Amino acid sequence: MGKLQDKVAVITGGASGIGAATARLFVSEGAKVVLVDLNEEKGQAFEQELKALKADALFFKANITSEQEVAEIFKKTVEVFGKVDIVFNNAGIGRVHPSHELEYAEWRNTVNVDLDGVFLVAREAIREMLKIGGGTIVNTASMYGWVGSPGSAAYNAAKGGVVNLTRSLALEYAEKNIRVNALCPGFIDTPIIPEESKQALSSATPMKRLGQADEMAKAVLFLASDDSSYMTGNSLIVDGGYTAQ
Ligand SMILES: NC(=O)c1ccc[n+]([C@@H]2O[C@H](COP(=O)([O-])OP(=O)(O)OC[C@H]3O[C@@H](n4cnc5c(N)ncnc54)[C@H](O)[C@@H]3O)[C@@H](O)[C@H]2O)c1
Repeated sequence: MGKLQDKVAVITGGASGIGAATARLFVSEGAKVVLVDLNEEKGQAFEQELKALKADALFFKANITSEQEVAEIFKKTVEVFGKVDIVFNNAGIGRVHPSHELEYAEWRNTVNVDLDGVFLVAREAIREMLKIGGGTIVNTASMYGWVGSPGSAAYNAAKGGVVNLTRSLALEYAEKNIRVNALCPGFIDTPIIPEESKQALSSATPMKRLGQADEMAKAVLFLASDDSSYMTGNSLIVDGGYTAQ
């Protein structure tokens, strides 16, 4: 029996990178997965790939910054699968800009997706989990929720916000059997990292390589499953040693 047998997991940013790797691992552990992403083409193709493996998978195109669309995701998930046990709150964006050239609209957009969107998804998740007496939420922050870096002020501020949002929600719902933790990846080889940056980011990492999406998925499985049953409000840094420097 898998670690997530018969659990229903909503995964945002589920069409690509860390979200997709986590969906693959979750279905191999017996979960039913709902993939949420803006990228319809990739999302639908991935849904088909998982269904071909006889997995219960559904793709919904939705924008996590829309209150209405987020509510719709959870409504449809409950209609189809009956409940929500796990939410991997992972969709995000990141661009590099010198701060003195950063347009306010760009700042707002980054914080809107990377912090406001995480709140909207967590809020809806908690509403459903309260109905069934518990659940687990894993928010994707970043090692840049813990340390700074030049050129990513909006992203880093939002990810720092996710780390403390995680603690706050964990405390608020600890007695309701809802655990809330965060994953803080280092540099991971996904489409969010520009090809031309990969060499420099590998060199800046003590382990001298980028992390792989499936290495993140294993950490998410730990946080989402009973393997971490006494953990809440935690941020698990998985970064090849970067923040130990
Ligand atoms: N790759 C890294 O080095 C790294 C490091 C630290 C944190 N992260 C975080 O990991 C998470 C996943 O990123 P990834 O590396 O897998 O990148 P990715 O680009 O492969 O995946 C992100 C997915 O999120 C989706 N998305 C973006 N905005 C959305 C929105 N508003 N609504 C719905 N879907 C949306 C994208 O379409 C994409 O499929 C992000 O939150 C990112 O900030 C990544």
